[in-house]
Formats: sequence, C-alpha cells, structure tokens
Amino acid sequence: MSFKRRPLIAGNWKMNGLLDFVKNLAGVLADKVDQNDPTHFDMLICPPATLLHPIKILVGKSGLLLGGQDCHMAKSGAHTGDISAEMLKDLGSSHVIVGHSERRVDYNETNEVVKSKAEAALGVNLTAIICVGETEAERNQGITVDVVKSQILGSIPERATAENIIIAYEPVWAIGTGQTPTKGQVQEVHVLIRKTLGDKIGLKEAEQTRLLYGGSVKPSNAIELMDLNDVDGALVGGASLSPIDFWVIAESCPK
Ligand code: PGA
Repeated sequence: MSFKRRPLIAGNWKMNGLLDFVKNLAGVLADKVDQNDPTHFDMLICPPATLLHPIKILVGKSGLLLGGQDCHMAKSGAHTGDISAEMLKDLGSSHVIVGHSERRVDYNETNEVVKSKAEAALGVNLTAIICVGETEAERNQGITVDVVKSQILGSIPERATAENIIIAYEPVWAIGTGQTPTKGQVQEVHVLIRKTLGDKIGLKEAEQTRLLYGGSVKPSNAIELMDLNDVDGALVGGASLSPIDFWVIAESCPK
C-alpha cells in the first residue's frame, strides 16, 4: 500500500499585502484553521517578509503555518536588501519557498543558486519548498521532462529528506494566466518528479515527499487537481489573496 501523505496548501502572496491584510486575511485563516481543528490538510501562508512579524503576533499559536518567499544562501553578512533563512525562522517561519520561477527569471537564479538557498534553509531547520517547472516554449519543444528532471537533480541538496523538502511543480505558462495543464500532464510530471527524487534521495524518502502543484489553482479546478495520485497539495498565488477561495481550495484536498 502506498504511503499516505498529508496535503499542504501553501499561499504565496508574492509582493502583495500591507498591514491591513494581516487581520483580514491571515487572521481569518488562522481562525478557520483553529475552528476546524483537526484539519485534514496543513495550511501555510508565505506573505511578504515585512508582514511576518505582525502576522505571527496575531496568529500566535494557531495551527496556521508561516513561511518566507525566498532567502539568501549565506547565513548573514554584507548582502544589502537580502533576508537570511535564520531571519525568517526568527519571525516564526517554518518554511521558505526557493527557486520560484519569478526569482529564476527576474534574478537569473540557476539550479545551483536554488540548491544553495535550499541548503541555507535546511541549515536552520526550515522546510524548503523547491519550485520547478517548464516554460511554454520548453513544453512546445517537447522537453518538459528533461527540464524538470535537471531542475530537480540540480536544485536539491544532498541532505534532502521527505521531512525537510517539498517540491512544487509550477509550469511557468500556468502561473497567473488562468491556464492549467491537463490532469494527465500534471500527473505525468509529478510521477517523473517522484521517480527522479527516488534516484536522488532513495525510494522511501521520495514516496513520502510532498509534491505540490502550482499555477492558476482556484476553487473551480482544485478538486480535480488535488485528487491526482501524486499531487499532495497546492502552491497558490492569486487565489491565496482571498481567504474564502483559499479555504475552498484547501477543503478540496481528499480526506
Ligand atoms: P498563481 O501563482 O496561483 O497566481 O498562478 C502560483 C505561484 O506563482 O506560486
């Protein structure tokens, strides 16, 4: 029998949210998580780093998890404008996203850079959510499998385990566009990711590692996506800015 992985619904607020979001979004979600305890999923929000502290104060010991959207690969030092993994941890984060396609594109982050960031996260006991995914041109060229495989092999630290990493498959062409791959395409890439992970960290760890799908997840498509065998939750951008939509997506995870 295959291992039962607990779903994770993660919200990536990106560069959105001022102080008024704290109560209206994080506060509402924290209340929902607590009122529905025990939930059949974990819920994580990754707000801008500027909001981590006020959110932590507000949600306190709630079951709502907090994470960062990126971290620097170094522990500390002369890196103006950057944030270390330890700083995120200090503000109550348990997770950090690394290698999001917006970072890979906007800041030329290579697999090596992403791997170093993931290593920095693991170094302070943060779980690294490592993002991979092909562009539209790569899908059209038929090289999705090669691209995702090399991103996995190149971005995952040697000490990765099912406990300290999560993989998010986010086809770049599906992010913020309203387009999503077919169920078959998503499952195919998730199987490939699990197999590649198996080669790298061992079959048992790979079987237990959570693989999220991301890219235009919304209430109307969440059930069919979350129902796929190798999809263990979602990384949600736009729809995570609405507490109602985000909660509906989370409730779509199979029990
Ligand atoms: P989206 O973003 O849900 O708005 O498509 C997903 C992401 O970038 O993580």
